[in-house]
Amino acid sequence: MSQNNFKRYTITSALPYANGPLHIGHLAGCYVPSDIYVRYLRSLGKDVLYVCGSDEHGVAITIKAKKEGKTPQQVVDQYHEIMKGSFQEFGISFDHYSRTSAKIHHETAQGFFKDLYDKGEFLEQSTEQYFDEEAGQFLADRYIEGTCPKCGNENAYGDQCEKCGSSLSPTDLIKPKSKLSGRTPVLKETKHWFLDLARYQSFLKKWIIEDHADDWKNNVLGQCRSWLEAGDGLQARSMTRDLDWGIKVPLNDAEGKVLYVWFDAPIGYISSTKEWAAENGKDWEPYWKDEDTKLVHFIGKDNIVFHCIIFPAILKTHGGYVLPDNVPANEFLNLEGEKISTSRNWAVWLHEYLEEFPGKQDVLRYVLTANAPETKDNDFTWKDFQGRNNSELVAIYGNFVNRAVVLTKKYFNDVIPERGELTGYDEEVLEALAGFPEKIASSIERYRFREALGIVMDLARLGNKYLADTEPWKVIKTDEARTGTILNIALNIAANLAIVSEPFLPFTANKLKELFGMDEFKWEESGQPELVKAGTVLGEMGLLFEKIEDKVVEKQVQKLMDAKKENEAANAPVPAMKDIITYDDFAKLDMRVVTVLEAEKMPKSKKLIKMKVDTGLGHRTVLSGVAEHFEPEFLIGKQVTMLINLAPRKMMGIDSEGMILMAEDKDGKLKLIQPHEGTASGSTIS
Ligand code: 2FM
Ligand code: ZN
Repeated sequence: MSQNNFKRYTITSALPYANGPLHIGHLAGCYVPSDIYVRYLRSLGKDVLYVCGSDEHGVAITIKAKKEGKTPQQVVDQYHEIMKGSFQEFGISFDHYSRTSAKIHHETAQGFFKDLYDKGEFLEQSTEQYFDEEAGQFLADRYIEGTCPKCGNENAYGDQCEKCGSSLSPTDLIKPKSKLSGRTPVLKETKHWFLDLARYQSFLKKWIIEDHADDWKNNVLGQCRSWLEAGDGLQARSMTRDLDWGIKVPLNDAEGKVLYVWFDAPIGYISSTKEWAAENGKDWEPYWKDEDTKLVHFIGKDNIVFHCIIFPAILKTHGGYVLPDNVPANEFLNLEGEKISTSRNWAVWLHEYLEEFPGKQDVLRYVLTANAPETKDNDFTWKDFQGRNNSELVAIYGNFVNRAVVLTKKYFNDVIPERGELTGYDEEVLEALAGFPEKIASSIERYRFREALGIVMDLARLGNKYLADTEPWKVIKTDEARTGTILNIALNIAANLAIVSEPFLPFTANKLKELFGMDEFKWEESGQPELVKAGTVLGEMGLLFEKIEDKVVEKQVQKLMDAKKENEAANAPVPAMKDIITYDDFAKLDMRVVTVLEAEKMPKSKKLIKMKVDTGLGHRTVLSGVAEHFEPEFLIGKQVTMLINLAPRKMMGIDSEGMILMAEDKDGKLKLIQPHEGTASGSTIS
């Protein structure tokens, strides 16, 4: 059955950009699937190394830094820590999580570049690249946006169209626009080092399309084919950039040039391995160089070309490295019918989930796997999250284990009872049980985690059905020994469930491990009819799953709606400028800093607050339409801005003697305009 007879396994998952926190799209794309695979291999007792780290270079980082008014280093430091912590808390069991700003990584990536350079693999070319004259900078990758020539997406990046997955060069874009200034860029000559991918075309074609036609996923093969079988063949790609953030090109004549982020990032898997080895007294080389190592890259679909074409070409040319045995890429996960977007805040953020759903890591892991975008884009909805929790985890898995445990406690004082004579039905159930691990393993080994999880749940269903059919709560009235046999079998199904569900639901499986006092999860022990022995005293288990109420998910949906509203407001255009006025017009306005002495709501008005203010020239009464924005008590004592020479106006029978000035946000919220420190009432504003 097993294709897993390699001596060791190096498993990588895509290095996430350290430009924002992790969200469910990242998790479903590659971290949950890779973690399942790795946990499975570990339970088989394999020598596995699972590495990842933060991707800290490239324009994704510098754009974020500019937006937040920080340095790129500050941005990567902040998000590296957040991501590392969230992964750990979520149970993504990396052996090592590094970062590409690490010294060892700079050295390793430069070493690769130098090696290829010395072998004459690069084409050194001066070409015309887009340049933003206002920003004084070349526009690499995501610094430039425009219309994708392949699918018409108007927001394609200079290196890639996220809509159709095409890999692009800035000069391919229709109507290019600088992200820095919004202006149309000009072309300017600059020198770069290009990897001549045409040289690897026939090797890659054979390696992927012939050798891996049967074991790589269709979506991956499809993308590779479209590259390798394109009429004009593979084009040379520049491996350097004109940027001041990144790994310096290790050549004398390369001032101001850094390595392309997609040159250095995959090498990050190797640097992460080196760092792990140094910290653990191991040798890193066999994990990358020994032919008996199985290398698997877990990625999202937008990373396919880099892992299947460019990185293998680099490894092959360098020589001495194994190539990936597989590159299982997932498609995208959408959220409530829309594309997940960091900039639009349309996401379920992992660090927030962990805070708002403490102890419920497995629920999210379950939903993301049961609904994984393995073959096509899929949608995460909070309704589905609730439904899968309540009617699958609680009603099937939790209910089964709970019944077996509660009945054992009640009838046998928490001791696993003896197994007596077996009925034909018992034998049938135990035989079915024995067949589960192999079926689950076969799906996992073919990277079909969704299917594998479905089979795990079928085992829980088998347990539930067994209890429902044998009715130990009735049998106990007449036959204690038979009840013991039933519960012994049910508990053995539960113990087996612990092993085979551990890759998917590690927190839950650990509770079962405690319950049964198991040592480790050993896959080869699963399927056994007597995995846990009669006489074993059950330990504490704690609650496995609990029902999620409507109001909990409604709150999450509301949070998304609020984020959408906020985002729309932030992107709403600011009102256009009014007609030009003369200085004389302006000088007629008498604006002062005044102090609010009294404030009260006007009876029978939803909007008006009546204030008494000290203008420095005496006290005045003003009516202001701010009751929906401020409580009267909040206003008392505040210094605000007022137009004091506006002609008095009668409102609700009261003369309003001036106007309090307010700033109105794009979402219609009013803010006070105040001096930044205390100022005498009556101070003029000009
Ligand atoms: O798409 C991304 O988020 C990239 N940072 C993935 C890099 S994967 C690897 F090459 F390191
Ligand atoms: Zn496109």
